[in-house]
Amino acid sequence: MINNKILNICCIGAGYVGGPTMAVIAKNCPDLILNVVDINEERINLWNSEDLSNLPIFEPGLSQIISQVRNKNLFFSSNIKKAIKNADMIFLSVNTPIKEKGIGAGYASDLRWVESCAREINENAVGHTIVVEKSTLPVKTAKTIQEILNVSNNSDRSFSVLSNPEFLAEGTAINDLENPDRVLIGGDDHKAMLLLKKIYLNWLPEEKIIFTNLWSSELSKLTANAFLAQRISSINSISAICESTGADIKEVSNAIGKDKRIGEEFLNSGPGFGGSCFKKDILNLVYLARFYRLNEVADYWENVIKINSWQNNRVYETIVKKLFGNVVDKKIAILGFSFKKNTNDTRESPSINICKNLIHDGAFLNIHDFKVSKDTISKDLSSKNESRWSFQENVYDAFEDTHAAVLLTEWELYVNIDWEEVLNKVKKPFWIFDTRSILNPKVFDNLEINFWQIGFGSNK
Ligand code: NAD
Ligand code: UGA
Repeated sequence: MINNKILNICCIGAGYVGGPTMAVIAKNCPDLILNVVDINEERINLWNSEDLSNLPIFEPGLSQIISQVRNKNLFFSSNIKKAIKNADMIFLSVNTPIKEKGIGAGYASDLRWVESCAREINENAVGHTIVVEKSTLPVKTAKTIQEILNVSNNSDRSFSVLSNPEFLAEGTAINDLENPDRVLIGGDDHKAMLLLKKIYLNWLPEEKIIFTNLWSSELSKLTANAFLAQRISSINSISAICESTGADIKEVSNAIGKDKRIGEEFLNSGPGFGGSCFKKDILNLVYLARFYRLNEVADYWENVIKINSWQNNRVYETIVKKLFGNVVDKKIAILGFSFKKNTNDTRESPSINICKNLIHDGAFLNIHDFKVSKDTISKDLSSKNESRWSFQENVYDAFEDTHAAVLLTEWELYVNIDWEEVLNKVKKPFWIFDTRSILNPKVFDNLEINFWQIGFGSNK
């Protein structure tokens, strides 16, 4: 670091957060050099691919930014040691999944990747280095990182650890990064906090940048995700009441959302929330609460996840029941496999469980998605199910000889399907299950199609 100025940034982890976040910083801070590094060489090669349609993640607006800044002030490489050595500031953007075994299995974060980064930084950093937690981490992780970094015999080196959690959502990541509701910086080294703030001030107004202590920052990230997920479980629980009573969840969402205290966003009922983070972050909160013997708090948040699994199963069971309780050797079209529209990410996608359950019941699936590859679906459904589904490039082909179609991801193009054309290809009676409430029920009034929509009490 020269004259207390950040000139060179390293980001460890070239994933859904590291890639887009560093691309937006590079675009807004042309004087900074940013090196994004990853142990996954294949991923790095894809980030460097000339054909921008091969970038490892699909995110609207991302490829345009990459084409502007890549190899100018943004570089992707696997040379982690070198990038650490040259960096004044290092963002940790590695994965933090739930532990699969050992103490805390099923709840606590697996911090092995964070720990190995801290060790790598300790071995290779030069001068004063600011280490920034970008990954979502359990409260007090900064202390662990500090302890590892402080194991050093070399008095020429020093470290500050900050927490700067990321709030972007996939599918809207670029807009979320360019125009976030807030940027949170937690720390106890005010000078380091100001240096990080200065980077964001290149494109954000000062009032959007919040300073807190380290633990408030780490906990705020978990809390934000828990509150968002809780809203989805809340509206999904009401969707079931709508179906039983004749109410319509879209009308209920609209009516309650007009109350400013409730707000209009995040009130769409669906097949349950997916994505890599909501479940793991709530499980982490549950683990934290139990650790501090706050069992009522832990139970409260765990129920958000239970409702989510219940909703997902409820959708699957509804499909089977409507198809006369039997799907053996019935072909079913699956519309959408990503966990939400505008991403190719399938982690924890509600489609995975629903597809696995339908296959287990004997169905054959024609699976279509606009961005998810056949390979990804294959990994998600596991090799033992390989002969029970086919990948469909063209949405209309997916309907061939099917008894039903299940819309699982809210890709806008599904709204434009010509259902009269579909009717020529399918078996009768034919069912459409719209788990995202994006289709207009009236469209089916005069067609020989049975239509079911989540939370729609007037389902025929
Ligand atoms: P990801 O799995 O897409 O990317 C993580 C990357 O880190 C991988 O490519 C992996 O190879 C790399 N990595 C792991 N250990 C490494 C090491 N020691 N050295 C170099 N590279 C290493 O994960 P992601 O979705 O980008 O999430 C990263 C973190 O950000 C998680 O903590 C997550 O909770 C949080 N987060 C994610 C999102 C999101 O939308 N995906 C949003 C906000 C926060
Ligand atoms: C979420 C948060 O929105 C981000 O702020 C956070 O940074 C991120 O998690 C993270 O920490 O990883 P993301 O999972 O990418 O972002 O996407 P969301 O838009 O939150 O959707 C999550 C899931 O909830 C999706 O399956 C989506 O379809 C579902 N959802 C969302 C609903 O069912 N209804 C809604 O009204 C909104």
